[in-house]
Amino acid sequence: STWHSSDIDHVIVSEEQIREKTAELAKQVAADYADVESVLLVGVLKGAVMFMADFARALGRSGPPVEMEFMAVSSYGQGTTSSGVVRILKDLDRDIAGRHVIVVEDIVDSGLTLSWLLKYLESRSAANVDVVALLRKPDALRVSVPVRYVGFDIPSEFVVGYGLDYAERYRDLPFVGVLKPSVYGRG
Ligand code: PRP
Ligand code: MN
Ligand code: MG
Repeated sequence: STWHSSDIDHVIVSEEQIREKTAELAKQVAADYADVESVLLVGVLKGAVMFMADFARALGRSGPPVEMEFMAVSSYGQGTTSSGVVRILKDLDRDIAGRHVIVVEDIVDSGLTLSWLLKYLESRSAANVDVVALLRKPDALRVSVPVRYVGFDIPSEFVVGYGLDYAERYRDLPFVGVLKPSVYGRG
């Protein structure tokens, strides 16, 4: 619809770029995890929902058997900057002890959410924990956090689409774009 597109200043990652990169990342993970019995993808709701769905299908084509779990955490609330305070809104449903866990994130911004999450998952005795993130903002990192698989490094602008929201909107856009600053002022 028109209000969507008119709120976007410019596209940063197109639908086609996302599709190609997702396949490429899945190939790398499939190669690195060729010898394991299964991988447990942990998608971080809500932002990772689109990438999780596409990445899991891509990995499932060539990689080891895939299982999916979801956690919901929130650090941003309604704002555009991370508060650093991570709340668990939905925990894991199952034990992850001894599992090969891959956290699936839409974006690593300050790194605070992921840094907290990695500690949490390691405390649950996973065999190993890797991270695949579609997007990363290198200039915004506030803590060093190991992200083994990264789709795109992007500038520190507020982006939405393909799962990423501003005040819960724009997650449904099939691409990632920069929101017009004038939109922040609303509502
Ligand atoms: C966003 C995004 C990442 C996190 C990254 O989630 O989806 O999970 O922030 O930011 P950080 O690296 O600065 O911690 P958000 O807290 O907005 O929740 P959401 O996924 O439900 O939108
Ligand atoms: Mn998120
Ligand atoms: Mg958000």
